[in-house]
Amino acid sequence: MHKTIKNIVEMKKKEKITVLTGYDSTMVTLCDQVDVILVGDSAGMVMLGYENTSSVTMEDMIRFTTAAKNAKKNSLIVSDLPINSYKNEKDAITNSLRLIKAGADAVKLEGGREVAGIIKSITESKIPVMGHLGLLPQTAEKYTVQGKTKEDAIQLIEDAKIITESGVFSIVLEMVSSQVAKIITQKVSVPTIGIGSGKDCDGQVLVVHDMLGLFEKLKPKFAKRYLSLSEEIRNAVKSYVEEVKEEKFPAIENEFQMDESEYNKLRKEIV
Ligand code: KIV
Repeated sequence: MHKTIKNIVEMKKKEKITVLTGYDSTMVTLCDQVDVILVGDSAGMVMLGYENTSSVTMEDMIRFTTAAKNAKKNSLIVSDLPINSYKNEKDAITNSLRLIKAGADAVKLEGGREVAGIIKSITESKIPVMGHLGLLPQTAEKYTVQGKTKEDAIQLIEDAKIITESGVFSIVLEMVSSQVAKIITQKVSVPTIGIGSGKDCDGQVLVVHDMLGLFEKLKPKFAKRYLSLSEEIRNAVKSYVEEVKEEKFPAIENEFQMDESEYNKLRKEIV
């Protein structure tokens, strides 16, 4: 069954929400059993090889969203508005519509009270918005835990309430201390989706490349690895290289053969 925004909102307090990032059709086909596929701007790092998400463009996000849309059957698709694509209300609406046209069911943007007006104008244009609080990778200078002091925590809790009032249908909480993530989850009416924010969030999100053990540059402690795919891929490539060099691959079962009679006729003609 294809997930809707309503389904996701109604899961709060009933069933944990599962989210994985996805940027290409092959991976999204394999991950389509989660509730939400997030076409995150983390694509800049895991797909495009950038140091961070600050160089990701709308064109990149449209391409990744199209790939996700072409593969998904069940999951809801949420696509990130990249940095600088929602600086004012007009840009925010135009760029959100571009992502929806490419196949997203909703968009995600980073920030608290400072983007409340932008969120309101996108949702008033009938485009669902997922918020993102805590560590904000588009602007963060360092990846540090958020909500560690009382002042910080109060700010985050207020931001969560403000963006909920502006109309978000859910909120990603990235690297927020577990206690504060729990308070936010209890205080807001929409589901919270945690990444490095403890078990009390209404759902969890991981970058699929982290979860599969494919991305080796960063290994945050919250990103549990369910596989060591990078190791398996290296071993497979090593075997391939060896087999080609030693003429073990391709074997007879990997070849296409001409008919014997046609081959004999050919030989007579060319010899
Ligand atoms: O871009 C992304 O993948 C994200 C998740 C880390 C939540 O925003």
